[in-house]
Formats: sequence, structure tokens, C-alpha cells
Amino acid sequence: MAADKDIEKQVEELLAKMMLSEKIGQMVQINGFKGKIPDELRQKLREGKIGSMLNEIVPETSLELQRITREESRLGIPLIMGRDVIHGYRTIFPIPLAQAATWEPSLAQAAARVAAKEAAHAGFHWTFAPMMDITHDPRWGRIAEGFGEDSYLGSLFAAAMVRGFQGDNLSSPDTIAACAKHYVGYGAAEGGRDYNTAYIPENLLHDVYLPPFKAALEAGVASVMSAFNEINGVPATGNVHTIREILKERWKFDGFVVSDWNSTAEMISHGYCEDMKDVAKKSITAGIDMEMQSTAYSDYLEELVTQKVVPEELIDDAVKRILRIKFKLGLFEKPSVYSAKLPEKPDEESLALAKEIATKSIVLLKNENKLLPLLKELKSIAVIGPMADDPYEVLGTWNRDGKIEDTVTPLAAVRDMVGDNTEINYIAGLPYSRSKDTSEFAKAIKLAKKSEVVLFFAGEESILSGEAHSRAFLNLPGAQDVLITEIAKTGTPIVLIVLAGRPLCIGDIIEKVDAILYAWHPGTMCGPAIADLIFGIESPSGKLPVTFPKTEGQIPIYYNHKNSGRPPEGKSLTMIDDIPLRAYQSSLGDTSRYLDIGFEPLYPFGYGLSYTQFEYSNLRLAEDKIKVSDAIKVFVDVTNTGDMEADEVVQLYIRDLVASLTRPVKELKGFKRIRLKPNETRKINFELSASNLGFHTNEGNYIVEAGKFNLWVGGDSNAGLMTQFEIVE
Ligand code: NOJ
Repeated sequence: MAADKDIEKQVEELLAKMMLSEKIGQMVQINGFKGKIPDELRQKLREGKIGSMLNEIVPETSLELQRITREESRLGIPLIMGRDVIHGYRTIFPIPLAQAATWEPSLAQAAARVAAKEAAHAGFHWTFAPMMDITHDPRWGRIAEGFGEDSYLGSLFAAAMVRGFQGDNLSSPDTIAACAKHYVGYGAAEGGRDYNTAYIPENLLHDVYLPPFKAALEAGVASVMSAFNEINGVPATGNVHTIREILKERWKFDGFVVSDWNSTAEMISHGYCEDMKDVAKKSITAGIDMEMQSTAYSDYLEELVTQKVVPEELIDDAVKRILRIKFKLGLFEKPSVYSAKLPEKPDEESLALAKEIATKSIVLLKNENKLLPLLKELKSIAVIGPMADDPYEVLGTWNRDGKIEDTVTPLAAVRDMVGDNTEINYIAGLPYSRSKDTSEFAKAIKLAKKSEVVLFFAGEESILSGEAHSRAFLNLPGAQDVLITEIAKTGTPIVLIVLAGRPLCIGDIIEKVDAILYAWHPGTMCGPAIADLIFGIESPSGKLPVTFPKTEGQIPIYYNHKNSGRPPEGKSLTMIDDIPLRAYQSSLGDTSRYLDIGFEPLYPFGYGLSYTQFEYSNLRLAEDKIKVSDAIKVFVDVTNTGDMEADEVVQLYIRDLVASLTRPVKELKGFKRIRLKPNETRKINFELSASNLGFHTNEGNYIVEAGKFNLWVGGDSNAGLMTQFEIVE
């Protein structure tokens, strides 16, 4: 790759040769054609009026578009071709939320590496990923695409994925440019309804929503995408404060910012812009360098510059940013190396990685009487449920280029796993997850009755999560719960495997089943990963990257909430049925909880069981008083007290007890995935810089205050040993 200095020189030289219309052309991105290239488009390419395309999936068309641009336009500036490669290109990895459940960012990095390679071979230079929107709301369909509710965990995954896509050298033919999205606050949509308004105070913006973007920048991300939502009354796409001031000026981001699809034009619907000319003006002023799909820039920027409403320096700055990335990608030398032929099938190594990630992402939520793993040879297993043999739905949202013929379904994998002496009988029971058709129920119940165990594959189809696919009810859709309830009456033990794009409210069903594996949408290698866990080839080790509510009424719900002045105490009782008539108001106690659902979640953040047990002991600190410039050294012993070798995710949380702005009851500050043999004890150490234990003020300034902190280490955000330390002046 050319050195940065050389690239800057090339950028300047090229810019000096460009006419205003050509500069603006670089800032225009249009959608692909998948067919005959219209004459009008050929002409625009020749005139240098298009800088980028997305979704051009026919390799021959892509090559021809590039050829016209390179050979027939005055300056021959290559197009940058983008695609949503969100959790895999051909090899589909678990959805990003599931990847976060591994708590092993290096795996997400490796997956992004594979995705980059496959996408590059299909002719793409740029992915619109990773998506790093923190959310506290599982109703929001796009929770599937991000890393959950915690900005520390999310930041590590965001940076890892950027490194995976981009590698060490953006110009190498198997790396692609990444895009940190959606900037910013998109996950804070009111009510979890996609595209909805967000109100985010400045301190929370900095403490919760911005850190993953900062981490992506530090990992060298090439581009950032502005979000659809408005923040505190200003659309994210026209937001001078977040884009121009924070991202470009304060953080010195030198890549480019692309708007989301039509998000510039939508500033008219927001009530922020009068017309498309106003859209162009406000977008460029805020710092949008490239406009995706809508045409405010191509229609009005030239006029705005000529009329001196928009200074040409803003255009120059935007174009430099875009050219910089095109040079870094090596597109001027060889854009077509990205269009080598994509292999017929995903390779074995990629599939093995997809399986490893899926295996480590699956969370064991319940395991009554140690029903799992199924170690002894059984005569008969019933496989039931609408998600048991569906090669499409398990791939999850944003599967654009994966192929269902590559998917190994749970049914296929279970059949493959058992010996000749075990009979596997299958009935879907319901044709799809939302179905209420009970006509197959009798057969399913009969099958359950004559089997030794039922593996019930429930969940939601991939279309029920993702963009614009928010849900107000988070139950298992259709008649799945009715079928499970009926099967439970047979007395045959049930293993429930949930395949979903978000936390579902499965509280009503928990008591009816014996074991639960929460498998998310695991991708191409769904079946083999689940089968390995069911039959004990590996122990589950996924941990929840998001809090599971008991019911939708508890949302927003997240572990790092504030304490309030009247925090709930003791057990989270549901008391509504026991309240006597005409009871006096305060006789029930005045604390912050719901009468009908208590205050605790169904499962806390960080939660996940194993086939073995881990014991934590001997939590100690090197020193319990440290200065802001120091690091606090934490040690803990973790022992595998069960009888199976397994992974555990050791988690460290803190609480700043008194501060000038109140702090959350817990904050994740470190974690480690470790593997222990039975009876093995490992001494684990963490080193926390005190300078990382601060927070932002309402003005957005970062401060670290002296004072006492609690510190916990354990296997989830509730469990753990506790100690205290103090930051001193
Ligand atoms: C809209 C989505 O919000 C964004 O995430 C995606 O990258 C673009 N469409 C392009 O497909």
C-alpha cells in the first residue's frame, strides 16, 4: 500500500484537476442495475457524475461499469462498489447479536475476514458494516444486527470487525473497507419502533452511544454511515454537532461519511428541511460526504456552490476523503482484482469457523435435572417445531448472498450425529413460526408420547427482526406456545431450542420445558453447532449480550441502569393478585418495581449456564487505593468443579458509588473467555486503568472523579464476588 504521505499527494493532485461537476460526482452513490446498463447511466459515468454504487451483484455488469468509468471518463476515477455484508457473504455467520454472545471479539474479527474475502471475490470493495448501535430495547428489530446493550462489549466487537474486514492493508485484494453505522443514537428509537425519534442527553451520548464508533475509528474504519433517526430534534444526517464537530473535528476522522439510503431526503419528512435544495445544503454542512441513493447532491450541490451558499472547500474536503479511501483500497491500480470468481461453495475452513462461532454463541438458559447433554444412547428422539428443518430462516436478517443449499439444518445435523440404534422422528407441527394451524398437533403429541426426549425447535423467522421489523409483542409467535404446552402434558422431557433475532419473552414457557438453548439465528452451520451442544461434544458457553425481559412491559431494560432513590429490594415478587381490596397506598412498600412483574429481568446480562460448574474464589486487589494515573490489578481464582472441560466467560463489573452525576449500578469493565479442565483452577488477572473509570459531563467532557468503587468478578452481571477500592487524589 502506498504510504499515507504519498496518498495525500495523489489526492491533492487529482483534486486539482477536477471540475466542480466531477467533484460532486464523487459524492453521488446510486443503486445497482443487475442487467443491461441504461444509456443514461453510461453517459453519467463518462461525465464523472457517479462515484459509487451499491448492490451491483452481477459481476459482468460491475466490471463493465468500472471499465466505462476508468476508460471513458476524463479522469478515470474508479467507482467504489458497496454491499451490505453484515454477518457473512456466502458463508453466513451467526447474526451480530449472537456473535456478541460469544464474548470473544477475535472470532468476529475472523468472521469478518472471511466475509471480506468472499465479498471481494464477488467484486465488492466496501461493506456497510459493522452496525454498532447500542440498544436497550428488544422490540427494535435491528437489535439483531448489533452487539447488544453494553457499550464496552459493543466497542470491542465493533473494533474487531473493522480489523477483520479491513485487515492490515486495505489495498490487498481480499480486504474491503468497513463502515461504522448508524451514526448515531439509532438504537435509542422511542418505543423500539424503527426510525423513531431519539432523545439522548449529551453525557449519555458520550458514555453509551458514541464509544463503539470511537473504537471503530481507532481501529481505522474507512467510512461512517449517518443514521435515519433524529437526536434531540436534529436528524442524525443533518447533525453538525455529531458529524462535523465530534466525528470530524474532535476525533479527527479522515475517512468519509455516507448517508443512509434516502436519509438526506427524509429530512423533509422530519420537518428539518424545506426541499431538496435545503437537504443538500444541510447535509453538506453537517458533513455528509457521499449521498446514498437520493439525489439532493447531484441535483443541487453545483448550484449551491455557484451561488456561494455552500463554500467549495466543503466539497473539496468531502472529495478528498472519498479519494483517500479509493487510493487506500488500491482501486486506481487494479479495481478489477476484486472481481475474481467467487468459489462454488464456502470453503471448509470458513464453515468450521462459522460452526465454532455458532457453538460459542448459543446460551444455555435452563437445564433441569441435567437433561442436557444427551449422553446415553436413546432409542427414540422426537424432533418437532417449525424451525427444525428450515434452511432459510435460521440464516437471520441481512442474508443477501448466502445460499440455503449450504445450510445444515438442526434436523439434518441431529440425524447425522446419532447412531443406527437411535430413531429420529420428525414432524414440524406448525408449517412456520407464525402459523396458528393446529391440524398437525395430534400427530406431534403422539410422536412426543412415544419418544424418550423431544427436541423442540421454536423461534421467529428472520423476517421478524431486522430493519423496519420491530415487534410490540415478543412472545413466540403463532401457536408455538400452545403446541409446547400440549407436548409438555405428555411428560416426555423437552429441550427447547429457540432460534430468534432478539430476546423473546419466553417466561410463560420456561416452566413447561426442561432445558433451553437460546441459539439466535446461527447461520449456515446452525445444525452442527446445536447438535454438538445437545449431544455433549461441547458445553454451551455463550453469555447473554442483552438483558432478557419477562415481558414487554419491562422494556427498556438493561443491566447498567441507575439505582433511583427508591431501589427495589429483596426478591422480585409479583404481588398484584395478593393485594387486598381497599389496601392503603403505602402498605405495599414504595419501591421502584412493577406490581405485576416485579423488577428483575427473566435473565440478566452476561448470563449463561454450562454443563459444568465454575466456582469463583479468592478475589483480591494488588492495592485498594490508586491514583487516576494508576491501574488497579485484580486477581481471582476460577475453578471448574464439574466433570466436563468447558469455557467460561469471567466478567468484571464496577460501580462508582458517589459521583457528581449518578452512575449505573454496574458497569462491565473487563472479561475473559477461559477454558478449564475438570478440577482445574486458573488464576485470572485484570488490569484496569483508573483513567477508564470516568464518565462524561452534561457538556460532553470526560472526567474521572476520586471516590469509592465496588468491584465484582463473576459469571454474569448478577453473580460474583465483591470487593472495594478507592481512587484517591
Ligand atoms: C438502509 C439500512 O439502514 C443500512 O443499514 C443499509 O446499509 C442501507 N440501507 C443500504 O442497504
